Amino acid sequence: MSDALVPDLVPRPLPDPAPAAGGRTVYLETYGCQMNVYDSQVILGLLADAGLARSEDPLTADVVLINTCSVREHAEHKVISRVGELRHARAQAGRPPAVLGICGCMAERLQAELTRQRHPVDLVVGVDRYQELPDLVTDQLSRRADPGGPAPRGAVAVGHDPDVHYVAPPELYPTNNSHLVTIHKGCDYRCTYCIVPYTRGPQSEKDPGAIEAEIAGILARGGREVTLLGQNVTAYRWRDGLDFAGLLRRLAAIPGLDRIRFLTGHPRDMHPHLMETIGAEPTVCPWLHVPPQSGSDRILRRMKRRYTSAEYLDMVAHARRAIPDVTFSGDVIVGFPGETAADFQATLDLLRAVRFDTIFAFKYSERPGVPAARLADDVPLAEKKRRLADVLATQDDIWADIAAAQVGAVWEAVVEEPARRPAGHWRLRTPANRKVVAPLSAGAPGQVHRVRITGWRNTAFLGEPV
Ligand code: 5AD
Ligand code: SF4
Repeated sequence: MSDALVPDLVPRPLPDPAPAAGGRTVYLETYGCQMNVYDSQVILGLLADAGLARSEDPLTADVVLINTCSVREHAEHKVISRVGELRHARAQAGRPPAVLGICGCMAERLQAELTRQRHPVDLVVGVDRYQELPDLVTDQLSRRADPGGPAPRGAVAVGHDPDVHYVAPPELYPTNNSHLVTIHKGCDYRCTYCIVPYTRGPQSEKDPGAIEAEIAGILARGGREVTLLGQNVTAYRWRDGLDFAGLLRRLAAIPGLDRIRFLTGHPRDMHPHLMETIGAEPTVCPWLHVPPQSGSDRILRRMKRRYTSAEYLDMVAHARRAIPDVTFSGDVIVGFPGETAADFQATLDLLRAVRFDTIFAFKYSERPGVPAARLADDVPLAEKKRRLADVLATQDDIWADIAAAQVGAVWEAVVEEPARRPAGHWRLRTPANRKVVAPLSAGAPGQVHRVRITGWRNTAFLGEPV
């Protein structure tokens, strides 16, 4: 999944006015993938139960938490400098320091190191330890309130627990009208570049009954659509043998659930029977996020991706036959160790052959301790940057071609939120995950409208109601 926060998932401002004066508050910033957005909902839910309301102001909140990502070095650097910035801003504003905590993948990777650096943080809480946050936060707050007590030391709660599965209350940290539902955590693949199996631990499934109950809760609050989340949702397998296709069929049968989206899929797990299920269930949206990572078989082998580019293309062809109007998105890494100009060309060829709607492209970033760290990171940075620019330019051309061919099409699309401009316009999303901006006289999130496509700008289509 992309560690760039997908813009649609940027948390919305609080619907309610600021919490009553006097109550303790928590400010939370989220980096990384959709799993982290879900976890942030969990964190705010747990802290709300302990009496801490969400604040949007890092200068006044009693507790400041950052939910972090380790997938690339750059993501970690961003967090470290953000922590410094927040500390500095508080000092400038003459505010006492907040209880400052690091949650998520960096907490799991760096552990106590974060409490021993020159500017230590007060809390380090890993991905399976959020249930400990209320106690940890309360303890830190009471130590602050006792100036005569011993100097507070940073608290560290990390380590994986396969039995911990959270249920998030999305109203505290709402995103778009597709409610996130994590269906499993961790990852058992060992792609050689990836830190996730270490930060998120082994794959562990949420009970299908618990997933159904969570969705029932979302429907009871007026939701109609869910996005199933996991590092490799397509590898879902419950103890009784229920696989992802079976889970989709079960969830698609829930009355009142209109749409199911999911990410991320692994190309190797896109079995024909899964694609047939997606094609046959009208509730399951025809959008596949299946990262190819590379188009070169030599590099795919070195990445231990377990498929060839030909197998990837076969999967795409099968999906196009089985799933009407299917669209694809994916991730690509450029400059993996040993990637030659010819390997890179193979990646561009794959993009042209598949014609993804969207590509998230990343420069390879060496992560300590992963298998690829034993390979020389030998593609110079300037060359990685050139290749990244080439991928993006190639993708722009492909997208322009795809987009131009859609003018005149009529789609059903779900209203998400008012567009920033022009006035009276709304942002909608089609089941195939295409964004449309259209004027609606009476729009409301969740409504479905038929729109005719009249053009496109950047990644969004322009439409008019039919
Ligand atoms: N360097 C660069 N990109 C990476 N990704 C994962 N690990 C790395 C790494 N070490 C990318 C992959 C993945 C996405 C979430 O991040 O493309 O699909
Ligand atoms: Fe980043 Fe962790 Fe999400 Fe991976 S699982 S993308 S490392 S936040």
